[in-house]
Amino acid sequence: MKVAVIGGGTMGNGIVHVFAQHGHDVTLIDLDRGALDRALATIAKNLDRQVKKGALAEADKDATLRRIAAATDLNAAAGADLAIEAVFESFEVKRAIFVKLDEVLGPEAILASNTSSISITKLAACTGRPGRVIGMHFMNPVPVMKLVEVISGQATDPAVLARIMAVSADLEKTPVAVQDYPGFVSNRVLMPMINEAVQCLMEGVADREAIDTVMKLGMAHPMGPLQLADFIGLDVCLDIMNVLYDGFKDGKYRPSPLLVRMVAAGHLGRKTGRGFYDYQA
Ligand SMILES: NC(=O)c1ccc[n+]([C@@H]2O[C@H](COP(=O)([O-])OP(=O)(O)OC[C@H]3O[C@@H](n4cnc5c(N)ncnc54)[C@H](O)[C@@H]3O)[C@@H](O)[C@H]2O)c1
Repeated sequence: MKVAVIGGGTMGNGIVHVFAQHGHDVTLIDLDRGALDRALATIAKNLDRQVKKGALAEADKDATLRRIAAATDLNAAAGADLAIEAVFESFEVKRAIFVKLDEVLGPEAILASNTSSISITKLAACTGRPGRVIGMHFMNPVPVMKLVEVISGQATDPAVLARIMAVSADLEKTPVAVQDYPGFVSNRVLMPMINEAVQCLMEGVADREAIDTVMKLGMAHPMGPLQLADFIGLDVCLDIMNVLYDGFKDGKYRPSPLLVRMVAAGHLGRKTGRGFYDYQA
């Protein structure tokens, strides 16, 4: 299958990696030449790690890299059977890409988005092929995480869903079909848990280590919710809480005032060196 991946950041490079490793020809498209170079270097480094662990043969690594092409122009997606968009989480940025892909790709091609929270139905409605638009929500890091949340919009053709479920299984992932409601399943369940942990901290129910320890040792979570929030980015957590709050108009999704305050302070977690924990050297 010919695949185009738009956006070579954290998620895009992982998506390219798994498709190329499983025999698909992939064109990675990013506006930013530097991002393309970084993505290709990350893929090569991650393949090397697989070779060192004995999970991949050296020859397969080389074959994987040969299946990857890189471009800065969306026209390079022409001829793809499947295009997966993984650019910034902005409806306007994604809309422009979907409109352009709709022009460039053949009528049978499937357009997918890796969005965490934007409505697939809304993205589909920007194109002339809403039946062939679907969500493929990979998890970070893509080569490691087994789940693909496959999201059907209001108009997604059941045959397209079946095709994407099969394609995902061929990547040795476990696809799960869900409907297009705010937060899908993953973030609708995860983010309120994180938000409630922040609320516990704000109310002084327990300190950060205690809250994380309860969830790690009591619920066998690999990471506590506050640690996980720092890893995801507190701005991303807040944006998704707002998507849930606006989408359902239900107060149970109200972002914790402490989460709002941390984001206002620029304490966004690991990426800024400070969140619920301190990461400065
Ligand atoms: N990071 C995660 O853990 C995670 C997990 C699941 C889903 N997602 C979703 O995946 C998507 C991508 O997230 P990310 O963390 O990889 O972002 P990122 O910021 O790491 O990368 C985004 C890339 O898109 C490129 N880009 C921006 N506008 C573009 C355009 N018009 N054309 C081509 N390329 C463009 C940027 O240059 C950048 O390289 C988002 O929708 C996000 O919600 C992220």
